[in-house]
Amino acid sequence: MRILCLSGPNLQLLGTREPEVYGSTTLAQIHAELADLGAARGATVDCRQSNHEGALVDWIGEARGNYDGMLLNAGAFTHTSLALRDAIRAVQVPCVEVHLSNPEAREPFRRRSRIAPVCVAKVAGFGAASYRVALYALLDWLDARTKVD
Ligand code: DQA
Repeated sequence: MRILCLSGPNLQLLGTREPEVYGSTTLAQIHAELADLGAARGATVDCRQSNHEGALVDWIGEARGNYDGMLLNAGAFTHTSLALRDAIRAVQVPCVEVHLSNPEAREPFRRRSRIAPVCVAKVAGFGAASYRVALYALLDWLDARTKVD
């Protein structure tokens, strides 16, 4: 299995960014954990971060044929980006929406996700563990789908 893990704007600041909301784990530590967890499950996990919507759209657009599944923490673009939603829909690569916090328990403007309708699932509110839970569950989901196919 090949998994693409994308993180959006300001997530490069994890560790120091509002630790009371997002915890103290850095994105580099999250990426290292995902690589280890993936390796233990026989999967490769390519992790990337960008503050630029277009870069995220480009990476999703290249996913078809190169990845079996995606994890996406789109940061604030979650709530605004029709371009990300269209990209996920276009490539038809199963995508799990990931958040460290639980946006639905925060400010009203975070309660709407533009990408949720085109994702297979969402994991939110577990801090850095959201990424691990999402990877584990996505690999299970892909394994189950492969057996049915
Ligand atoms: C976030 C939640 C978003 O609302 C926010 O804009 C982020 C981080 C999260 O992981 O909890 O940047 O995606």
